[in-house]
Amino acid sequence: MDLTRLILHSDYQIAPVDSRIFGGFLEHIGRAVYEGVYDPQSKHADEHGFRRDVLNKLRKLGFTAMRYPGGNFASGYHWIDGVGPRSGRPVVQELASLSIEPNQFGTDEFIQLARQMNWTPMLTVNLGTGTPEEARNWVEYCNRPAGTRFSDLRAKNGSLEPYGVKLWGLGNEMDGPWQQGHVPADQYAIRAQQAAKLMKDTDPSIELVVCGSAEIGLPTYMEWDRTVLEYVGEYADYVSLHRYVGNVTGDTADYLAVTNSIDQQIEVADALCRYAQAKTRSRKRYFLAFDEWNVWYRTQNAESVNGHGKYAQHLVEEEYNLEDALVVAGFLNSFIRHADIVKIANLAQIVNVIAPILTRGDQVLLQSIYYPLLMYAQRREGVALQAVVQGPGYESKNYGFVHNIDSSAILGKSALHVFLVNRSETEPAIVELAPAGIKMKSVQSAEIVAGSSAAARNTFEQPDEIQDRKFSDITLSGQKAIIQLPQLCVVAISFDIEADGESFGPLS
Ligand code: AHR
Repeated sequence: MDLTRLILHSDYQIAPVDSRIFGGFLEHIGRAVYEGVYDPQSKHADEHGFRRDVLNKLRKLGFTAMRYPGGNFASGYHWIDGVGPRSGRPVVQELASLSIEPNQFGTDEFIQLARQMNWTPMLTVNLGTGTPEEARNWVEYCNRPAGTRFSDLRAKNGSLEPYGVKLWGLGNEMDGPWQQGHVPADQYAIRAQQAAKLMKDTDPSIELVVCGSAEIGLPTYMEWDRTVLEYVGEYADYVSLHRYVGNVTGDTADYLAVTNSIDQQIEVADALCRYAQAKTRSRKRYFLAFDEWNVWYRTQNAESVNGHGKYAQHLVEEEYNLEDALVVAGFLNSFIRHADIVKIANLAQIVNVIAPILTRGDQVLLQSIYYPLLMYAQRREGVALQAVVQGPGYESKNYGFVHNIDSSAILGKSALHVFLVNRSETEPAIVELAPAGIKMKSVQSAEIVAGSSAAARNTFEQPDEIQDRKFSDITLSGQKAIIQLPQLCVVAISFDIEADGESFGPLS
């Protein structure tokens, strides 16, 4: 077996890791809200109707920025329908997933939930069927001290204190022909600029995410982003990008190499941002909000998003296996490796709909992808280091050459966190780690996610097939660690390090 070397140097720092890259996404679709986080009929419901059992599992994932209420749903949503006494809220036809929306969960419930969960709320305004004025009214409702029409409405609905929502999305996937109110780039740019101005005039402290390309396969890919950024200019703080991947051809090796394409998508979007900045002679650097990402292919078809005029239907309930868990870790590695560019990222989604958690009646199932999320959530503070891998690899069918080992690393104040994915289906790996400028004292903690095959998965009947286990195949002697990995696994290791100035890089 050929050795893999993971080369790290305390001085080769990318940027501090923005905790908001560990964000999530809660949309009104299928059973994400109703029967997911909110289910007053459940025996697990708390006094607000939130499912305690689900929230306890979600809490462990430590999500930061939580995007709401959509997604495609946002482009037909009128926030005013979801506030005020529940008995007076309208039941409406919902066209994104051809469902019924009872509006029993809205802004006030979401903010309550976000507070309970320590999430940073990130609201997406309706720029599909909504108006720039409706968008700014929502900012007023959420952020202005009482004394005006919509802030007084919030106070009447129970909260004198403003909600202080700092992150706002200017619509969702407006480049997609499937989007309600989809328009060409120049028309979206006008809508977004108008909304942005009104919203920032209402509360200058907010940050805005402008819609970038929703899919790399769309004919307008990047041309859309260029048009929008050049027009919206400095009203934009972040550009959104989305990515769903899957093993559509049943080729695990190729699927696991998709990380190359994720890296490339980030780098191309960043290049476009820099181009737009230069073209408009702006001093402002635009960063990326990767505000929808996940594995999604088994249930990506028209029937899976058709609620047939009902609500809380079983829509897009993807069942995840071991190889999907490796890909989820690959996304996170890519975000960490691009910590200087990606400042926000939202796993789509958090419960039932393409999610790490599934509910069935009163039961909760943790899917395979839950575990890498858990392992990374515990190790996210610090500065991303350049992680150079030398060792065996393979030429993939669609994504070029990849090393068997995919990696990222975060240098914290008293710990070095290293993440390793072994993509090989047949080859265990030996990884040598001898980081320069970092004195490793001991292994603080380490876990592994592995399994009997790429297709192994958890079910309600066999819920513990895939889970994180303590990992101990690490030999630390002197300044060198030798790590032995089985095939197809994700490993996260935290080393205690000497936190003196000599061994610690220039992290402020
Ligand atoms: O997350 C599911 C859907 O995927 C979202 O509503 C949409 O934005 C994307 O196409």
